[in-house]
Amino acid sequence: MSVLVLGGAGYIGSHAVYQLIDQGEKVVIVDNLETGHRDALHPKAAFYEGDIRNGDFLNSIFEKESIDAVIHFAANSLVGESMENPLKYFDNNVYGTQVLLQAMIEHNVKKIVFSSTAATYGEPESVPILETMPTIPTSTYGETKLTMEKLMKWTEQAHGIKYVSLRYFNVAGARETAEIGEDHQPETHLVPIILQTALGQRSHITIFGDDYNTPDGTCIRDYVHVEDLISAHLLALKYLRNGGKSNVFNLGSNKGFSVKEMIDEAKLVTGRDIPAKIGARRAGDPSILIASSEKAKQVLGWNPTQTSVTKIIKDAWNWHSTHPKGYRKEV
Ligand code: UFG
Repeated sequence: MSVLVLGGAGYIGSHAVYQLIDQGEKVVIVDNLETGHRDALHPKAAFYEGDIRNGDFLNSIFEKESIDAVIHFAANSLVGESMENPLKYFDNNVYGTQVLLQAMIEHNVKKIVFSSTAATYGEPESVPILETMPTIPTSTYGETKLTMEKLMKWTEQAHGIKYVSLRYFNVAGARETAEIGEDHQPETHLVPIILQTALGQRSHITIFGDDYNTPDGTCIRDYVHVEDLISAHLLALKYLRNGGKSNVFNLGSNKGFSVKEMIDEAKLVTGRDIPAKIGARRAGDPSILIASSEKAKQVLGWNPTQTSVTKIIKDAWNWHSTHPKGYRKEV
């Protein structure tokens, strides 16, 4: 039996495919290559290029391949873009998941691990954030991920599809060997932007606000290494295969770092200057997001091992410094 990885050519999805294949799983990838990269595809995975909103396409894959579980990374994930183009997010994220669940019902596939987000919580009342806290998203992106969770909840009741929803905090880093890494066009995430500045590809990084109610005034986030994040997906798959009930877990490190602290750490790791300027706040940014990941540790047995931001930045730097143009071919 194979695991169907939707979005397996993207940053997080490709890391999942590599770990699944390392663990001896057979993998089938679906990706429309809108934000994914052909060069991020694992050579041992079967690949189908196409869009999850195309039911005929998805049905043909469930018919050709023998799939026992799905891991769903195929979503748009930029908070800012989701506020400018909300219907794009409802279409790809929510409607795409609806088509997927229909195909799973028709082909009797009963297990799904789902890539969710801390953006489902919105501005938290307190930190660390527990899974039981209110979910009041402040962005269309967060709203669509919460809606996707609800689609799974009600589909389970009617059709018995079990799901594990993993709410990610700030994912960064890369596979240690740097065959794959983070490459978004355009890039909006903090760690790659810091490292592109260290490489001289940007004149400076703009810090979005230094007047937050935090010790140094810049936003605090909880950074999790992409490899630790993916190990939780493999455990979630095992949990579902062992008959675990549908569930929701936070994935973070339980520690917070400010934007300024991340820049300082990157200066140490890279040995380069990283010029920074203070700019205006970015709309929709909560001041502090820190996860409690105790539930994932207790229920799934998750044991993240790469929890220092030094290691996260070091592995990200290993990728960026050896692939300064990302997946684009050198000229
Ligand atoms: N930041 C800057 N300058 C930049 C880029 C980012 O100061 O050029 C700051 C942001 O304001 C924020 C922090 O760095 O305070 C992290 O920003 P990211 O864009 O890297 O990440 P976000 O916290 O906005 O969002 C990420 C994911 C979302 C997810 C969220 C959950 O992109 O999908 O984490 O915590 F929902």
